[in-house]
Amino acid sequence: MFEVTGLKVNYGAIQAVRGVDFNVQDGEIVTLIGSNGAGKSTIVKTISGLLRPSAGNIVYDNRGLTHLSASRIVGAGIAQVPEGRHVFAGLSTMENLKMGAYLVPRNEQQDVLDNVFDQFPVLKERRNQDAATLSGGEQQMLAMGRALMARPKLLLLDEPSMGLAPIYIQKIFDMIKTINSQGTTVLLIEQNALQALQIANRGYVIASGNVKLSGTGQDLLADPAVQKAYLGG
Ligand SMILES: Nc1ncnc2c1ncn2[C@@H]1O[C@H](COP(=O)(O)OP(=O)(O)O)[C@@H](O)[C@H]1O
Ligand SMILES: [Mg+2]
Repeated sequence: MFEVTGLKVNYGAIQAVRGVDFNVQDGEIVTLIGSNGAGKSTIVKTISGLLRPSAGNIVYDNRGLTHLSASRIVGAGIAQVPEGRHVFAGLSTMENLKMGAYLVPRNEQQDVLDNVFDQFPVLKERRNQDAATLSGGEQQMLAMGRALMARPKLLLLDEPSMGLAPIYIQKIFDMIKTINSQGTTVLLIEQNALQALQIANRGYVIASGNVKLSGTGQDLLADPAVQKAYLGG
């Protein structure tokens, strides 16, 4: 199990995350939904070791991650797909994917790459192409593929559908479901609350750096306050 308790994160005087508790059980898809500025990316970056909390704990399989380096957190089985994708321009699709596998033993990397190409055939077609020339949807798949190259047990996805054409949005949500059904636990951060709650086992509504509501995906979809604030109802 993955568990965050009492998490507080500041940027100087700005309290971006103000005491957040949530957990993700093995095998689940859990979503954090909330408006722009709610604190979602700050939570993800803190889990990944890119930001340090001012208080709270992050524990995975009984191991404290709170003060580990980003690289050790990847080594503990947690990989992130950052908001905005951040593929490496000037490097090919293949080179981008290999960057994700830096902790995987060299003699196992080909197997991992084959699995990612099975999952995302378009990345195989584009393997020699500069990542900067891929479409937005393809870059998102590359960012997901790169994270999967680390063979994570828990995958953090920060706004994977953001800025994508509608046909890609559906594809990305379908791929998240597939990745999960193949055994990877998923923490999905989204502003696209409808689709996120539809594929999630459970969700947490984040507002102003706090958890405002939590429940199963179905319960949150049916909640009038959620419908009014996040589902355009
Ligand atoms: N690097 C930063 N420096 C100062 N404030 C920041 C920084 N990044 C985010 N914030 C602030 O922290 C709050 C939460 O931001 P963020 O975690 O990016 O929200 P979300 O991902 O939910 O849109 C916002 O008020 C935002 O303006
Ligand atoms: Mg964000």
